[in-house]
Amino acid sequence: MPKRLEDLKLDSDVIAEQERVASTPSENLKIKVQNLRKVYQISSGCCKPIKPLVAVENISFGLEAGECFALLGVNGAGKSTTFKSLTSEVEPTEGSIHFGALDIRKDFNQIKKLVGYCPQTNAIFEYMSVEENIEYFARIKGIPADRRGELVNRAIEQLDLEAHRKKLAGTLSGGNKRKLCVALATVGSPPIILLDEPSAGMDPEARRFMWKVVSQIASDQTSAVILTTHSMEEAEALSTKMGIMVKGGIFKCFGTSQHIKDKFGTGFVIEIKAQMPQAEEIEDVREGILNPDNVNDPQLREALKKPTISTEEASRILTLAEVPVIVIESILCLD
Ligand SMILES: Nc1ncnc2c1ncn2[C@@H]1O[C@H](COP(=O)(O)OP(=O)(O)O)[C@@H](O)[C@H]1O
Ligand SMILES: [Mg+2]
Repeated sequence: MPKRLEDLKLDSDVIAEQERVASTPSENLKIKVQNLRKVYQISSGCCKPIKPLVAVENISFGLEAGECFALLGVNGAGKSTTFKSLTSEVEPTEGSIHFGALDIRKDFNQIKKLVGYCPQTNAIFEYMSVEENIEYFARIKGIPADRRGELVNRAIEQLDLEAHRKKLAGTLSGGNKRKLCVALATVGSPPIILLDEPSAGMDPEARRFMWKVVSQIASDQTSAVILTTHSMEEAEALSTKMGIMVKGGIFKCFGTSQHIKDKFGTGFVIEIKAQMPQAEEIEDVREGILNPDNVNDPQLREALKKPTISTEEASRILTLAEVPVIVIESILCLD
């Protein structure tokens, strides 16, 4: 059975944000998400019973203009489902979403004009040029004709797409398609910007361009930005606060990156599921994982002596330990 709120053992900062949101009128926030819960009903095949899958579990957060909120989490944590709820692509099972005084259930026609959305999968017109795509989205958003040319040029310049301006969007590389999607979401600096894994597939240079654009928009104090990412580095570069989401759609921690690091330390958040091991199995794990002398691979032996290890090393060490009772749910690097 899906868990209920009281069974979740939430972190104190997550509860504090829940209480802050509950006591703040929605008109005082740009975005107010309160106790959002999404349960998908999934069937594994014909005649198989339908089972509930909790993708988002009672999350609450509120943002003001000028804030950039990063939703950090591994694949399957529930980030995209949160975004799809914010754009009415999926209907929440429980909870409420307000954009200022507007309620997503009643006022979506007004809300959609306020939101710039970059979905996880590229949403571009492949047979239109880069320039035409941006111009078209600017028009949909109601930007007046006399301002459109200037804003299209600015978006192209900001995301370094000048060399591709006249190319058909379908012919761009993966990274450039992503840049175009970010341009479509940010053109004209709408009051609410949602970026679902904006940097996926971008090279490091493009990523930095994108960071600059998003930071500039957020610092104008007119937009509230939410982005999802797997990268702590990206979340740190961009966000004023962040929430780390784990499988089951639960916020594990909430706050500024400095606060999260101070509270949880640097290193890794590794979520594992374990059956109760036998005493001898515990001894094997202790010997296998903690004692570098028992590891044959010289690189891993060195890694084990370092104060911090990379995600890849951590995962190799745990694989090496061959502990069948432990299932790694997620590894998130906090460095
Ligand atoms: N349309 C859907 N129907 C059923 N299950 C879904 C659907 N979309 C996502 N899920 C499941 O919900 C969970 C969260 O997925 P998602 O929101 O895409 O996570 P993330 O974006 O963090 O990778 C996953 O277990 C995923 O398999
Ligand atoms: Mg996703």
